[in-house]
Amino acid sequence: MLFDIRVLDLTQFWFGPYCTMMLADMGAEVIRIEPPWGSPDRIADAYLAGGSSYTFHQLNLNKKGLSLNLKTAEGLQVFKEMVPKADVVVQNFRPGTMERLGLGYDVLRELNPSIIYAALSGFGQNGPYRERPCFAPIAEAMSGHSRLTGDELDPEGPPIEMAQAVGDLAPGLYAAMSIIAAVRHRDMTGVGQMVDVAQLDCMTAMNMALTGYNLSGMRLWQLKEKYPMGRGFGGLLKAKDGEYVRLASFSPRLIDSLREHMDVEEITMDIIQEKVSAMTRDEAVQYFVDAKVPVAPVYNVDEVVEDPHLQARNMFTYVEHKKAGRIKVVNFPVKFSETPVTVETAAPIIGEHDEEILKGILSYSDDKLTELRKANAIKE
Ligand SMILES: CC(C)(COP(=O)(O)OP(=O)(O)OC[C@H]1O[C@@H](n2cnc3c(N)ncnc32)[C@H](O)[C@@H]1OP(=O)(O)O)[C@@H](O)C(=O)NCCC(=O)NCCS
Repeated sequence: MLFDIRVLDLTQFWFGPYCTMMLADMGAEVIRIEPPWGSPDRIADAYLAGGSSYTFHQLNLNKKGLSLNLKTAEGLQVFKEMVPKADVVVQNFRPGTMERLGLGYDVLRELNPSIIYAALSGFGQNGPYRERPCFAPIAEAMSGHSRLTGDELDPEGPPIEMAQAVGDLAPGLYAAMSIIAAVRHRDMTGVGQMVDVAQLDCMTAMNMALTGYNLSGMRLWQLKEKYPMGRGFGGLLKAKDGEYVRLASFSPRLIDSLREHMDVEEITMDIIQEKVSAMTRDEAVQYFVDAKVPVAPVYNVDEVVEDPHLQARNMFTYVEHKKAGRIKVVNFPVKFSETPVTVETAAPIIGEHDEEILKGILSYSDDKLTELRKANAIKE
């Protein structure tokens, strides 16, 4: 779908790479640019496969790799020559870093007035905290999510952090969606723009408890305590084999289904728990599936990978990585009837596509490439 969109990807870690991977999955040509010595997120985890972290493998699928030392005059010049040939530039450095490199929005816009420049950061390009560095848990804590998760267990207890850096991945999705909207606007008007995506803003936008508070004056746990039946029946329930089941019977109709299936006048969580305690996890899941209410086994990752439904939905696929060999990765989740999305290529190794990009897009000669290598502007 995005086959004619070229993205210069200066991102790092999870937030930015997740955003640009979505664009690559949907067909954009995404050129992940990293210094010749490698971006820090390549080795962000101790476990490495073929020299790269599992997160790097997953978050850089379908991208091309260009090594570029932006702190050399030659490397900077290469980037500047790429900008007029691109549609989108994405970066998630601290605000101010691009300007120090000499690549602020004013410079990019001068080079290409229709460029879409997505500046991703923790706190945004203005405001008192703009210069603060950020990772997911920072945005999660400050937007209220860590306290809310802790409150689910015990409002008097410590906060609990969300697993899996939702504070990076959710803002990454906002960024991808916003870039596509800006591309559509550019296509209609020819006008590019700057898209300023802050992790804290996005995580605040994803916190429904804020509106609950604004309307009621109560924190979420207080609301739930005062109106316990407001949402129906659900929760994590322990089965007799020690495993857990998640039930979410959250509408009047579903409550009726549950009541009929359980053959009781009034449902309580105690009755539900008693029933679950007498069954294994998988028996309990089947019991509630038969009641036609939302239910799930609480899985470990190994069970997620093996689940027959996820296999039927084609949620895992294989790619061939230059150094790690054939690896299994998570597929793009959305199914399009006319333009299927496929994961075709593994995360690039450092500078994997230097020649292809510099010769193909900028028509550089072999001599020019040798010069760039000598100047330490691209990888040896
Ligand atoms: C993630 C973060 C905390 C890392 O902080 P940091 O490493 O101290 O600072 P930056 O990422 O801004 O800068 C990286 C440095 O590498 C340099 N660099 C990046 N790409 C380069 C390249 N291709 N060639 C040469 N230098 C490069 C930058 O110029 C910068 O150098 P400087 O400090 O001398 O200006 C910070 O980037 C940040 O807060 N980003 C916004 C929020 C975010 O996205 N967090 C990550 C969520 S997964």
